[in-house]
Amino acid sequence: MTIGVADTPATGARTATRTVAAEPQDVAAGAALDVLAAGGLVALPTETVYGLAADARSSAAVARLYAAKGRPAHNPLIVHVACLDDAAPFADVEAARALATLWPGPLTVVLPARPGIVAPAALAGGATVAVRVPATPLFRAVAAAFGPLVAPSANRSGRVSSTTAAAVAEELDGRIDLIIDGGPTALGVESTVVDLTGRPTLLRPGAMDRRAIEARVGPLRDHDASGGALRAPGLLASHYAPRARLRLDVAPQEVRPDEGWLALGEARSAAAEEHTVRLSRTNDLDEAARGLYEGLRRLDATGVEVIAVSPVVNEGIGTTIRDRLRRAAAPRD
Ligand code: TXA
Ligand code: MG
Repeated sequence: MTIGVADTPATGARTATRTVAAEPQDVAAGAALDVLAAGGLVALPTETVYGLAADARSSAAVARLYAAKGRPAHNPLIVHVACLDDAAPFADVEAARALATLWPGPLTVVLPARPGIVAPAALAGGATVAVRVPATPLFRAVAAAFGPLVAPSANRSGRVSSTTAAAVAEELDGRIDLIIDGGPTALGVESTVVDLTGRPTLLRPGAMDRRAIEARVGPLRDHDASGGALRAPGLLASHYAPRARLRLDVAPQEVRPDEGWLALGEARSAAAEEHTVRLSRTNDLDEAARGLYEGLRRLDATGVEVIAVSPVVNEGIGTTIRDRLRRAAAPRD
């Protein structure tokens, strides 16, 4: 097979990326494995968001992945494996034993790296490695058969993550080799990232509830409170951002007629009905998380310049929704 388009991201003409259904699983896995073995890039659904997978051991594949996303070289990637023991060749996994009981699931742990296997560029040249065991059977089957896979969210750098195959195509069509369509992802926001190289520290709130983690390793230190150098470079300022500007914590009666509205609950506002996306009519935060990125994409597609967003409570998955909204609203370069 040929791996063409991602080699030449700067040229104008790109062929459309092929999409294959996630079922039957053996066919989808076979197609993904062919692309990976050739050093290519394949978007695969996880339970959180779609990941853009590449061979973690191949410097060339990792370089293609950074180019396809336009990702800064200083931002390291998560290495996905089928089980904790599969990470032992490239990570010191001892500190992860207690939390590995939460795998497969939406949790990423940062561990001391062992050199020699994962391409250094995937770790941004650092001495730690982020590890995750995703929950979709297809992704795990591919990782079990192939070995470690780097997989950032399948979007262009700084943009909203993809929770459908159509969103992946919107972001990366012509820049990657294959998209596996497994339908909308189950959780809708990214994994929780915990640094275990020192005192357990929460680097990114996410789909795994903080309390489930703390029940196993004790209270987590907050990254924001820990001071010092930024340890998850992807976490600064503007990220997860749509094209439109965001206005957060807007009560329904404060929404302006020319704004889009990302709404919780059933209240009405001055926003046009076709510029309104209701994340959950019943204020169900899991439902809101599931639809968050697709809602931002839909409102962006209407062409509104500003999206007003309903208040979201700062508890459970609401904390993660607020985190992503805050980054989506942050000033851009
Ligand atoms: O749910 C998820 O985590 C998805 C799916 C595809 O698995 N992946 C994902 O990857 O969100 P990405 O690359 O979009 O975000 C990974 C985050 C970034 O903020 C990155 O800076 C941080 O994890 N990270 C990766 N390696 C790290 C390391 N060694 N130390 C600290 N932070 C790290
Ligand atoms: Mg991302």
